[in-house]
Amino acid sequence: MVRIALLSLLCAQAVLGRTISKRAVPFFSPLVGGGSELDNAGVGVGEPLNVIISGLSSPAVLTDDGVLNFARSIGFSEECLDIHLGAPQSANLGDGNGFVNQTIELRQDFGDASLGTCLESLIGGNHFRVFRQNGSLADSGALFLAVSKEENVAEGHTIVPDGYNIGRDEFVSAAAAGSSFNGVSYSTAAENITGLLAPGSAGVNHGIATDGIVTLLTVTIV
Ligand SMILES: *[C@@H]1O[C@H](CO)[C@@H](O)[C@H](O)[C@H]1NC(C)=O
Ligand SMILES: *[C@@H]1O[C@H](CO)[C@@H](O)[C@H](O)[C@H]1NC(C)=O
Ligand SMILES: *[C@@H]1O[C@H](CO)[C@@H](O)[C@H](O)[C@H]1NC(C)=O
Repeated sequence: MVRIALLSLLCAQAVLGRTISKRAVPFFSPLVGGGSELDNAGVGVGEPLNVIISGLSSPAVLTDDGVLNFARSIGFSEECLDIHLGAPQSANLGDGNGFVNQTIELRQDFGDASLGTCLESLIGGNHFRVFRQNGSLADSGALFLAVSKEENVAEGHTIVPDGYNIGRDEFVSAAAAGSSFNGVSYSTAAENITGLLAPGSAGVNHGIATDGIVTLLTVTIV
């Protein structure tokens, strides 16, 4: 009897604990759970997860459809006609799931949600990959984004010089200005975080250094 009561208490606490952490945490540092703020680009190096969409954002923003609509509101859409020029990347967000492939990759659409990303594929532009922190060890629901600015297709879609910092800052500026798409309006607060990503180029894809800043965005549907 006592054992059963104790067990149900422990279970209740575990459930409660998960519910509370899911609601109350912007994100968990991937470093704590053995993960990294660099993704795995498959060649022994990675790209910085330089933007985090907070788990405290409106829940609808954190779904696949929700982040897609938010991305469209700041000038991105799904990849041009599903043509995928690069291999998927994976990330370990320290949530117990280990390395998981990106859920979605979006490119800047230059103002035309259907054809614009084809333009991006040809002339380059901003793009990002999305990873969701939802493993049971760190279930924040936050979305970790690897944002970068790319060269055009003739350059083989490599990142422009300083392309991680530039990509992040352009993305954040567009979001912080406030945006709307398809009848949904967003108000976005930005906060810079240091200590997750080491400044410099060690382990970074293409050897492009970053300033080590990760910007946390709290996106609220208004
Ligand atoms: C990611 O996707 C690639 C290509 O579809 C696949 O080969 C690989 O096993 C996947 N990696 C993970 C960690 O799921
Ligand atoms: C966690 O996120 C991944 C990637 O988006 C998704 O495939 C998976 O179903 C989610 N897991 C849970 C338990 O919601
Ligand atoms: C974050 O850092 C970038 C790069 O230094 C800067 O341009 C931006 O204004 C900062 N944003 C905030 C919200 O502090």
